[in-house]
Amino acid sequence: MTSLRLSDSDLLNLELSRKARNQLSHKDRAIHNWYRFVLSFPPHLVRYYLQRFQATAKTVVLDPFAGTGTTVVEAKKLGFSAVGIEANPMAHFACSVKLDWAPRPEHLYQTAENIANATRAEIALLPHLSPTLSPDAAALLFKNAISPRPLKKILTLLGHIDRVCDRTASDLVWPHYRLALANSALYASNLRFAPEVSVARKHKADAQVVDHWLDQMKAIADDLHSLNHLSLISQPAVVHLGDARQPQHHLAPNSVDLVITSPPYPNEKDYTRTTRLESVLLGFLENKAGLQAVKHDLVRSNSRSVYRDDDDDRWIQNYPQILEIANTINQRREELGKTSGFSRLYARATTLYFGGMARHLANLRSRLRPNAQLAYVVGEQASYLRVHIPTGSLLAQIAQDLGYELIDIDLFRTRRASKTEVDLREEVVLLRWPG
Ligand SMILES: C[S@@+](CC[C@H](N)C(=O)[O-])C[C@H]1O[C@@H](n2cnc3c(N)ncnc32)[C@H](O)[C@@H]1O
Repeated sequence: MTSLRLSDSDLLNLELSRKARNQLSHKDRAIHNWYRFVLSFPPHLVRYYLQRFQATAKTVVLDPFAGTGTTVVEAKKLGFSAVGIEANPMAHFACSVKLDWAPRPEHLYQTAENIANATRAEIALLPHLSPTLSPDAAALLFKNAISPRPLKKILTLLGHIDRVCDRTASDLVWPHYRLALANSALYASNLRFAPEVSVARKHKADAQVVDHWLDQMKAIADDLHSLNHLSLISQPAVVHLGDARQPQHHLAPNSVDLVITSPPYPNEKDYTRTTRLESVLLGFLENKAGLQAVKHDLVRSNSRSVYRDDDDDRWIQNYPQILEIANTINQRREELGKTSGFSRLYARATTLYFGGMARHLANLRSRLRPNAQLAYVVGEQASYLRVHIPTGSLLAQIAQDLGYELIDIDLFRTRRASKTEVDLREEVVLLRWPG
């Protein structure tokens, strides 16, 4: 096991600048950089809590909202057993590839070079390239998310990856090629993440897709090479595609010692938008019905993903503070004369959010070992008509009512709310399960 002695700069302390606390430092790039999204937290936060919770060789670490895998990848890098749950198929795929260190790096890169050469030869025939997306899949993309020429190049490359991998399936290398392609698609796209995803005004008419992809593959091969000597390749680490509100479907009873996670916040963010382009290109989303099915498995955090049969709010009916927040949102909406269908659902999205988190925390209890410790990174919000939502303290209250002990609420960082210019706290709610 890698030693867990941390340098001062690893610590989650207030001496770190606001920017540095959110960034991937150079020394942390290996594996984490294979694919990340704007929602990720930094690996040094994971190290800090592993140390603070005094993780040992026997510790099993869980991230029930695994995203692209910062917690589980960092835990595996340090030699701990790790398990994740993630409901978004694209994020789940990225996380599972980042946990797979089995491919032989030389073979991985050599085959990548062959794929790149075959793709370049076909691209030379442009503009006669034929691949396109199905109309149902294309309809899921934001308008002008990617220009026609880079899109055809990406699809041509994907065709070659899939053909080569069909022939060499036993080598188990194709997921790495496809994950690198997701990055190259974002590079070639017109998308901006700032942090909301939007389409830039100036479109990229073309992009060096194949060169970019091969560079990615080189970086992946180099990382695998550098990890070989750590003998961590077989360290158990797995991520399940599933709903964290039902962890009992994926985790054995009494099996988890530590939880380090960042769930969604009640912030009107549609988490499927962040990964939409690559989800469509890689075939994780094929049509509107598929998109709705994915949204259905997510904790509600925005008015665009509220369904008629949702009933997680029954879990928080005894929380006057949450009901009061919902009432205030509705009152403000009426005062402001907002009548859109979505604004009418702001209050309900809020109660469904806390209800979903309550269901998660309730169902998690039987999976935790006695004295398990938990860290939940959550942000205060003011996204719903500027009504303040103290997410951390409300989750802490719900957790305590479910039998968890509150250890502390740390300040991770503050974020300036764009609409109100007010600093919102991003906190880490620390809990203990007495068992
Ligand atoms: C803030 S992000 C986590 C980012 C992660 N810490 C990382 O480093 O990439 C929250 C994640 O929770 C996932 N999620 C939302 N609802 C979920 C649910 N019910 N079950 C499992 N995952 C869920 C979202 O898809 C998203 O990837």
